[in-house]
Amino acid sequence: MTKVLINETLVDEQDAKVSYNDRGYVFGDGIYEYIRVYDRSVFTAQEHFERLLRSAKEIGLDLKYSVEGFTELIQELLAANDVINGGVYIQVTRGTAPRDHAFPTPAVEANIMAFTKSYDRPYKSLEEGINAVTTEDVRWLRCDIKSLNLLGNVLAKEYAAKYNAQEAIQHRGDVVTEGSSSNVYAIKDGVIYTHPVNNYILNGITRMVIKTIAEDKEIPFKEETFSLDFLKNADEIIVSSTSIEVMPVVKLNGESVGNGEVGPITKSLQEGFNRYIDVHS
Ligand code: PDD
Repeated sequence: MTKVLINETLVDEQDAKVSYNDRGYVFGDGIYEYIRVYDRSVFTAQEHFERLLRSAKEIGLDLKYSVEGFTELIQELLAANDVINGGVYIQVTRGTAPRDHAFPTPAVEANIMAFTKSYDRPYKSLEEGINAVTTEDVRWLRCDIKSLNLLGNVLAKEYAAKYNAQEAIQHRGDVVTEGSSSNVYAIKDGVIYTHPVNNYILNGITRMVIKTIAEDKEIPFKEETFSLDFLKNADEIIVSSTSIEVMPVVKLNGESVGNGEVGPITKSLQEGFNRYIDVHS
């Protein structure tokens, strides 16, 4: 029987229920992480839980768990579900209280929920690339917080699905920000460009790994904003996340990216990423 973590208890899937007054349910008042598991090892767990704690701090949510505490909870859940390759989703809300926009006073216990998923790496798309479309970024101005409020992201992804694309690359006016659930890179003349880390994007853990790999391989990695036109004229485009890793985009708005094939810098980063997984799992 699949187990789900509700606060500190592993419960059977069908018993995993929260109150209608959970603030995550009513307001989207909470934060989350999605973490990858390779060969039973939780990949970059430290970085993910540090980001979770940062998100909590940014929304004024006091948590009683440390990085180690969260890691232990997740390990138990993964073991119970015997996850070899897959991922674990964890969310924390501001708890259960009668509906009122302001924080509950006195504060109530945060609600934690986590579940796992077993699946293989997306080998076929990593090799062949995916299609993306561009769309205006209509999200709030704190995209650095991994908040449960994902309506903007959901609408962007749905827009992509409507056009038979797997990702929507968002832009604020002319500035490319990030994907609906990924970071975005434009590669031109051997240089990788990606939006700087600030309130307009999520500081992706995969992005951090890609930056390390690029530095190791001495591929210039520029954290600078770039325009929609620059993206359209890129030699290669990549989107990255915990679930899609270093994913090539071979079609943008129905047009081939570069020569329409997965490019050499993308392949080199993918090779580096595979090695990084081997060393860190
Ligand atoms: N999302 N930007 C956004 C808006 C994201 O939702 C994600 C990841 C990323 C990449 O972050 P990371 O490399 O740390 O996964 C960037 C996860 C996968 C999700 O929502 O399931």
